[in-house]
Amino acid sequence: MKVFVTRPIPETGIQLMKDAGIAVTISAKTLAQEVLITELQQYDALLSAGFVKANAHFLEACKHLKVVSLFSVGYDNVDIAAATRLGIPVGNTPGVLSRATADTAFLLMLAVSRKAFYNYHKILDGKWQEFEPIADLGIELYGKTLGVFGLGSIGFEMAKKCKAAFDMKIIYHNRNRNETAEKELGAGYVSFEELLANSDVLSAHANLSPQTKNIFNKNAFSKMKPRAIFINTGRGGLHDEADLKEALDQKTIWGAGLDVTNPEPMAPENPLLRMPNVCVLPHIGSATEETRDQMALLSARNVIAGLTGAPLPTIVNP
Ligand code: DGY
Repeated sequence: MKVFVTRPIPETGIQLMKDAGIAVTISAKTLAQEVLITELQQYDALLSAGFVKANAHFLEACKHLKVVSLFSVGYDNVDIAAATRLGIPVGNTPGVLSRATADTAFLLMLAVSRKAFYNYHKILDGKWQEFEPIADLGIELYGKTLGVFGLGSIGFEMAKKCKAAFDMKIIYHNRNRNETAEKELGAGYVSFEELLANSDVLSAHANLSPQTKNIFNKNAFSKMKPRAIFINTGRGGLHDEADLKEALDQKTIWGAGLDVTNPEPMAPENPLLRMPNVCVLPHIGSATEETRDQMALLSARNVIAGLTGAPLPTIVNP
């Protein structure tokens, strides 16, 4: 049994696969799709750490794989319908990264609300001269309304933190009602339009799908409060970047915090990076030692299950 791992992952997961008698090959760098297809012909499983584009062409060419295990909760880079049609189980890493990713959303919310990255750059640029009574003021979060778009486990963790730290009122929009959030956090289910109109902070946590692609566009931003903060730690494709930039320029909304961009990586000359009310991070949502260890273990368990014909602990295929 042989698995190809597309980028180095924590040793915990590698060791688990080796202990199960699996020969593990780890690629030091991301391979181009055609090169990866050729390479994979000698392997039985793929552990994808780094958003390999597994479209129908890729999966057809690799239909011998017994499992595709993703080192991520998101699976928008995989054509799940094609994988299912070809009988390839696809696993992901839900749950284990919820708290770390919500921490990142919370960090961005707070950083944007106090223009933290901009003020840090002021120091670096030698522009911190004296105490400023009215310059670069932020806005407070106490008692404000958090709107969660996509209230799964990451959205739930974000809502929990906002409630505990700032006694924020929680509203949410989701495919399904989240009874736990309603009971435990008093979260109110609202339509997408109501979410836009009533959120002081709108935090996006939904999966990227044809239904959610660019859902935060000019039209959506125009319905938000002028003092609203938009946070996206889900996928860059959830927002239209040009429309976001315009909404910030025209003060349609107050600020934005992004851990995900479209494309990734964001170019260093992107004007969003220099805006006072914008904080951008390079897709580090789940990047803690503890969480990445757990992701490595879960993705390894999915590989082992796929190679031994057992049900995947966390499977994406319907
Ligand atoms: C995920 O798991 O989908 C994240 O975006 C990567 O940490």
